[in-house]
Amino acid sequence: MLNRKRLLNAAKKFGTPLYFYDADIIRRQISYFQDAFRTFPVQIRYAMKSNSNISILKLMLKEGVGLDTVSIPEIQTGLLMGFQPEQIVFTPNLVDFNEIREAVKLGTSLNIENLSNLEKFGREYGSSKSCFIRLNPHIIAESQTEKVANWHNQSKFGISLNLFDKLHEIISKYGIVVDGIHLHSSHVIMKTEVFLKGAEIIFNLAQDFPHLKYIDFGGGIKVPHYAGEKVIDLKELGNALKPKYNAFCNKLGKKIELWFEPGRFLVGESGTLLTQVKVLKSNGLVDFAGVDSGFNHLIRPMFYDAYHEILNLSNPDAKKKKYTVVGNLCEIDNFAKNRLLNEIREGDILAITHAGGYGYSMVSQYNSRFRPAEAMVTGDKMQLIRERDTLDDLLRNQIEISF
Ligand code: LLP
Repeated sequence: MLNRKRLLNAAKKFGTPLYFYDADIIRRQISYFQDAFRTFPVQIRYAMKSNSNISILKLMLKEGVGLDTVSIPEIQTGLLMGFQPEQIVFTPNLVDFNEIREAVKLGTSLNIENLSNLEKFGREYGSSKSCFIRLNPHIIAESQTEKVANWHNQSKFGISLNLFDKLHEIISKYGIVVDGIHLHSSHVIMKTEVFLKGAEIIFNLAQDFPHLKYIDFGGGIKVPHYAGEKVIDLKELGNALKPKYNAFCNKLGKKIELWFEPGRFLVGESGTLLTQVKVLKSNGLVDFAGVDSGFNHLIRPMFYDAYHEILNLSNPDAKKKKYTVVGNLCEIDNFAKNRLLNEIREGDILAITHAGGYGYSMVSQYNSRFRPAEAMVTGDKMQLIRERDTLDDLLRNQIEISF
């Protein structure tokens, strides 16, 4: 349940548009995750691409969660925030080998997802450094949109199982120590069976990796985007995985540590985008509520057709009417189409919920508008965790030449 009063206070105190996070929800999600896999040796590495605000990273660190990173600056930020290199895994996609070199230098674990870089890794390090291999098991995962369905054979992610022979050829040619296998699907896992199918494939393949210590299941646990949406039950998943995992470890004769890289699962629900209705407008057919935000601040509805719940915090008891909630960008910019909302007046504050993951981390300055501020409540303390942009931020790094 959203704390309406607190959100309204935050909008008043910090202004809108504002990303507002509840630290208690992040803590709750972490313990829920830990609890679901309590009986396994497990490590949680937060996928910081979902939200890389340093205060959120600090909270993760405090709660004993490591980091999943995809770029060198993400690693550097993690290190700056006090994470140890061994708490960080680097899972880049199709990057220049120099980034891999850099990660090795910084001491993180490393996922390799293409044969080209694996070959370079072998040539450079032989068996002196270990790595994980990211595999693509060709499972058609469930997904709201094709854009995020990664476990299928058209996907650019991971090393295809069709290349398994070639993969092993490179590994033995250089004596590469593969101590982990990684399998990730992006937020499309809605059913325990899909996850278990992926796990079974990995458990079967694992026997071909004699140095194996870890299996990394990546992220991809779907979260609800509105109250009551049905999603996977992690506890049930943990219980269903357990016998398969036990049989697998017995067969291998050793305990394999499981890693997970949840992003949105940890932060999605904690974040709300608060925005103010500036203009009500009708074209005779549709009633538009125009807000002081847009897909420059939350791209998910436009980019993925993602559904985010919207609440009118200022007029919660009013009767419901249909609105198309739109942003102020100079093109189609919908947050929601024909959505039933409590009657909206100009000046009302709307909450766009479940926006903590891939919300701020995908903002832009399109239309030369300022990126929003971010604030967080922990206990009863409400604090800014990022200033709103200013004109200086828009102009930073631009160079004016003379003509
Ligand atoms: N691990 C790896 C290797 C990943 O590629 C991702 C997400 C994660 C973990 C975290 O996945 P999560 O638990 O957050 O689903 N911008 C899109 C999502 C892209 C996800 C990319 N990879 C969105 O807004 O839905």
